[in-house]
Amino acid sequence: MNHKITAAITSVGGFVPEDRLTNFDLEKIVDTNDEWIRTRTGIHERRIQKGEGLATSDLIVPAVLELCKKRGIETTEIDCLIVATVTSDYPFPATANVVCDKIGAKNAWSFDLAAACSGFLYSLTTGATLIESGRYKKVVVVGADKMSSIIDYTDRNTCIIFGDGAGAVLLEPNYEGYGVLESVLHSDGSGRKYLRTEAGGSLHPTTLETVQARQHFVYQEGAAVYKYAVKGMSDAVAELMEKTNLTADDIQWLVPHQANMRIIESTASRAGVPLERVMINIQKYGNTTSGTLPLCLWEWQSKLKKGDNLVLAAFGGGFTWGATLIKWGF
Ligand code: UT7
Repeated sequence: MNHKITAAITSVGGFVPEDRLTNFDLEKIVDTNDEWIRTRTGIHERRIQKGEGLATSDLIVPAVLELCKKRGIETTEIDCLIVATVTSDYPFPATANVVCDKIGAKNAWSFDLAAACSGFLYSLTTGATLIESGRYKKVVVVGADKMSSIIDYTDRNTCIIFGDGAGAVLLEPNYEGYGVLESVLHSDGSGRKYLRTEAGGSLHPTTLETVQARQHFVYQEGAAVYKYAVKGMSDAVAELMEKTNLTADDIQWLVPHQANMRIIESTASRAGVPLERVMINIQKYGNTTSGTLPLCLWEWQSKLKKGDNLVLAAFGGGFTWGATLIKWGF
């Protein structure tokens, strides 16, 4: 009997807004075309949150409520709620605080974690550590972004890629070896020159000039990020496999960040995992930044079997990157 506490995922929730932005819609806005976008990225459409007064927290609320309903728990039972996001409702307070207020999670402490596209992996490891410590019994880990709020829809380099969405998992203690078993996480801030939002922080606070210079939108040097992402994600998966003594045959599912179909394919190929065992929904949602990994778990949960080994991998702004092994527990 293994008495070590591990953090098992015991419920999953997700939410994407109804409105779709297709490649054909984008053809009307910027100089691009459906064929280019599909062949270069694998994306066909993305979901966009429309409507006044809606923010990232409104993507998260239905995802967390779904998760609670499926597990049969009240929101007051949540001990801690972590939101990975780069599109918080406000600069402060944290979106996690707003979510807890909206869902009535009165007994939870909550905070945001910013690690761009690796945010969910970072948060999952953080949440798992809280469970492993023995101090907390129910930790909700969310990955969510309203990317449409920081995308320049006149910039064809970025507007074709991103979409809005949220996913959430519930972590609970497990004594049989299921759950988050190992992680390799990395960061290198020198990558900020290739992918960032220039203004709105303490370096360049918001002024009329920063707004006019469109510095509050995502800036990305796509080709450079692509190169680092292919290497970073593949290396992280290889490092994790070596650390855990797993071969490709031991991995039932590879769960890659959904940034570009070509990055997904090369990560899968280097890991030796065939595409039929790779979770891919980029065609429907594009890159939802912190949302991609939990949205994959949300969509695939009915296919997952107890004991399946899942390898999650991500790369994103920072740079941040990593891979995590989960033994599925329900
Ligand atoms: O999630 C966070 C991490 N982010 C990523 O992992 C994203 C990594 N990068 C990428 O996915 C790809 O670099 C992009 C999808 C962003 C771009 O694809 P690419 O194959 O690297 O294209 P490129 O930027 O090297 O551009 C190739 C050509 C250029 O034309 P020329 O100079 O060869 O004539 C671009 O101007 O494609 C042109 N181009 C476009 N054409 C039609 C760039 N964007 C577009 C567009 N539509 N939207």
